[in-house]
Amino acid sequence: MALVFDKMHVIIEGKTKIIYENPDDPKTVFMKFKDDITAGDGVKHDVIQGKALVDWKTNKDIFEYLNRKGIHTHYVESPQECVSIVRKLDYKIDLEVVTRRVAAGSILKWGTAVEGQRFDPLITQFHYKDDPLHDPMLDAAYVEFIISSKQDGHWFKEMREINIDVFQELETAFKQCRIQLIDFKLEYGLIDGKVTLIDEISGGSFRLWPYAKENPDFNQPNILSELDPKGRLDKDNYRLGESLDQVQTKFEQIANLTDTFKDLS
Ligand code: C5P
Repeated sequence: MALVFDKMHVIIEGKTKIIYENPDDPKTVFMKFKDDITAGDGVKHDVIQGKALVDWKTNKDIFEYLNRKGIHTHYVESPQECVSIVRKLDYKIDLEVVTRRVAAGSILKWGTAVEGQRFDPLITQFHYKDDPLHDPMLDAAYVEFIISSKQDGHWFKEMREINIDVFQELETAFKQCRIQLIDFKLEYGLIDGKVTLIDEISGGSFRLWPYAKENPDFNQPNILSELDPKGRLDKDNYRLGESLDQVQTKFEQIANLTDTFKDLS
């Protein structure tokens, strides 16, 4: 029987999802995807018919894959289209944790990294989650100071470790589809005192660039020539002003790719 959300209590409505109380289970909540798409800290906003469905599919495939890989996530199951059940948070950590394999996006603005530069080891950054402040990055020395402190230091250490584990798992999975995972952003909370991967992972969370060659050589400091950034499948299409139809088509392609993650052990 389809769930009826009209009478359910909304815990919070965000830019792309609504979180509802689960009347049958206080330990979980419903996460309902919306057709909205935003960029530039919410300044650019549109509604794309059917986006909720493709984001839900992508998110479901990715979280089921990560759960199978033993990553500690909030995801439980998806009882119907556009709806997932996730474990209820005790505490939301207001950080965006970004990991990068290849230089693209905001890291280029600081002037040192060159587009296509390959990072090995991966680079991880913590950003304070605040749209009006444009999600400022935490000072790296301050992060190290927190990690060395006895109090909450282990949260940061664990978030960084999980970000890297998830990156490696998803990089391997997309590699089977001849796509390079460039970077992504993840979020965390505490459930039963444990640092847990939360939120969604969908076309807006990462950059995905197809391979440009039959046999790309990723064993070099800059791999831009091996990749096809113009064929990108991710939300940069929206940020760069592509038509909404084109944005949706690319998101559908992502959902078709993550559908194959079911076959990965
Ligand atoms: O813009 P920037 O290069 O810092 O983004 C790094 C990664 O984090 C990209 O994959 C982007 O899609 C993602 N991101 C996000 N939400 C934000 C900021 C960045 O999902 N608020």
